[in-house]
Amino acid sequence: MRTPIIAGNWKMYKTRDEALQFIYAVSEQLPSSHLVESVICAPSFVLRCLVKRQGENLRIGAQNMHFEDSGAFTGEISAPMLKSIGVEYVVIGHSERRAMFNETDEAINKKLLTAFRHKITPILCIGESLAEREQDLTKAVLLRQLNADLVNITPQNAKKVVIAYEPIWAIGTGKTATVAQAEEACAFIRQTIASLYNQEVADAIRIQYGGSVKVSNIHELMGQENIDGALIGGASLVADDFLTLVKAAL
Ligand code: 13P
Repeated sequence: MRTPIIAGNWKMYKTRDEALQFIYAVSEQLPSSHLVESVICAPSFVLRCLVKRQGENLRIGAQNMHFEDSGAFTGEISAPMLKSIGVEYVVIGHSERRAMFNETDEAINKKLLTAFRHKITPILCIGESLAEREQDLTKAVLLRQLNADLVNITPQNAKKVVIAYEPIWAIGTGKTATVAQAEEACAFIRQTIASLYNQEVADAIRIQYGGSVKVSNIHELMGQENIDGALIGGASLVADDFLTLVKAAL
């Protein structure tokens, strides 16, 4: 049995006060993490403030980190820094970072290795562009990304990776993949994990769908065999919506 995981990715939204208001609004009402893991991935400046207020039922994650532990990398944040304030999750390889900040699969692989070295759970994002889907390259892209991103990740650690399948054309567009498209891609990811590792790892790994997930489509998505949760942008900014999304995973 895989515990469902619902994660909000706030991207570059919310001031400190807005972030705190959100946490106060949801914290009493979220279900126990034994039933569903709820995570908010917030901008770096507010992580410490949120971690101090996190409960057993809500964990705080970062949206990115550098693969080096320290160094002359202006503007970056490292795994030991995140760990030192109690951050337990990190989004790695979001398509916005791949596209706008030139993140390569090689860098993403290093970040995964670093996350495990510091016992931070990575949420690894993969997914195809619209042009790739139209050319029937979805599976080829997923295969290429999984092969490159998981180099040297041991089977024991691979079980702990959360994989977010986020078709780029569905992010922030209001255009959700159909449930059949989402399930097909997530099933393919699980099959690929079985061939890269073994069936035990494939059965344990959690796969999220991300891309215009909202209150109106979460139930159908969560009803799919290979979808264990969601990575949510826009709808995770509204406390009531986030609560409904988490409860849909129960
Ligand atoms: P939206 O839910 O706003 O489409 O964003 C998805 C996403 O990129 C989550 O990481």
